[in-house]
Amino acid sequence: MLIKRLLLEGFRNYINEEIKFDNKINLFVGDNAQGKTNIIESIYVCSYAKTYRTQKDIDTINFDKDYYRITMEYEVDGENNKQEIFLDRRGRKQIKINDVKVTKISDIVANIPIVIFSPDDINIVKGSPQERRKFIDLICCSLSKSYLIHLQEYNKYLKIKNNMLKDDEKRDIEYIKILNENMSKHIVVISNFRKRVILELERKGKIIQGELTNKAEELKLEYVSDFIDKTEEEVLNNLNEHINIDLMRKSTVKGIQKDDILFYINDKDVEKYGSQGQARTVLLTMRLANFEILKEVKKTEPILLLDDIMSELDKNRVAYLFNYIKNYQSVITTTDVEGIKDFENIKVNKILAGSLK
Ligand SMILES: Nc1ncnc2c1ncn2[C@@H]1O[C@H](COP(=O)(O)OP(=O)(O)OP(=O)(O)O)[C@@H](O)[C@H]1O
Ligand SMILES: [Mg+2]
Repeated sequence: MLIKRLLLEGFRNYINEEIKFDNKINLFVGDNAQGKTNIIESIYVCSYAKTYRTQKDIDTINFDKDYYRITMEYEVDGENNKQEIFLDRRGRKQIKINDVKVTKISDIVANIPIVIFSPDDINIVKGSPQERRKFIDLICCSLSKSYLIHLQEYNKYLKIKNNMLKDDEKRDIEYIKILNENMSKHIVVISNFRKRVILELERKGKIIQGELTNKAEELKLEYVSDFIDKTEEEVLNNLNEHINIDLMRKSTVKGIQKDDILFYINDKDVEKYGSQGQARTVLLTMRLANFEILKEVKKTEPILLLDDIMSELDKNRVAYLFNYIKNYQSVITTTDVEGIKDFENIKVNKILAGSLK
């Protein structure tokens, strides 16, 4: 998959801009607050039909405009395609693929394979377990639509159960047991899938982390969950055994909403002991491993979006990274080209106040 051209109309600080892409490394260089991340964000919006930077998509409409329109032309297996996403201030969202309206937006989510590395990724290592679950769920969902359905179903039952636990009047143990039965089915599928993806991220990540750090850093991942390799019956027993505690705490104490992932470098927990650069490297490794998994499963090369990539990585790590990505299409932002402009396959674009110079 290759992005050929992007048209940004009223998106963030872009009024009307055409951006053309090379098949290899597309570097966007500029000072702070010029619109580099906005380009990466717009490509993400095309893939996921929503932004990752704010809660409300309408915040991404240009301050002086009533709508945005992002048009992306891309090539898959030698064929040209066009995808357009439109959003107005009333929240009306419309997507067209090759000029045909898409009726169900969820059908096309993640159809354009991308892997994004953003400065906010640091929260995956340093933030709460919720951030890590979001990280793994997003990967799992991009690999399997049925995973997404299992997750949605599970969350539906969890919500009903939690509502019931909160309200003493509504409590019905028999009904909770039925909810637990339904939840167990989804837990088995979800935790198996998470386990497989985490193992694969670790397998691929070990090699990448070794190369990035000249073998100085050995990476390990640990999936923390009560349900690894458990049968549906064992899961159900576990949930039912905790009903009394659920009632006491007024919320569900066991379930995949408590899972976590731990990252280790040379057997030390990165959250507790990792330096800033080590944490960034682990995250970059995770994104590159994610890229390789997605490439294998989707049988096409995803687009790599690397925002503000150079910060906190030393020269050797940057050199390895550019060598790794030189044969793929990527969009990279940086404030400074020093030390990278001479790498292979780079097209440098300068960004100034929402314009390509
Ligand atoms: N809805 C909006 N309408 C107009 N301009 C916006 C909107 N949202 C953000 N901006 C502007 O976009 C600019 C920020 O763009 P962006 O985040 O892409 O910067 P950047 O070039 O990545 O900077 P940095 O190097 O600091 O990361 C800011 O000037 C901001 O005011
Ligand atoms: Mg930025």
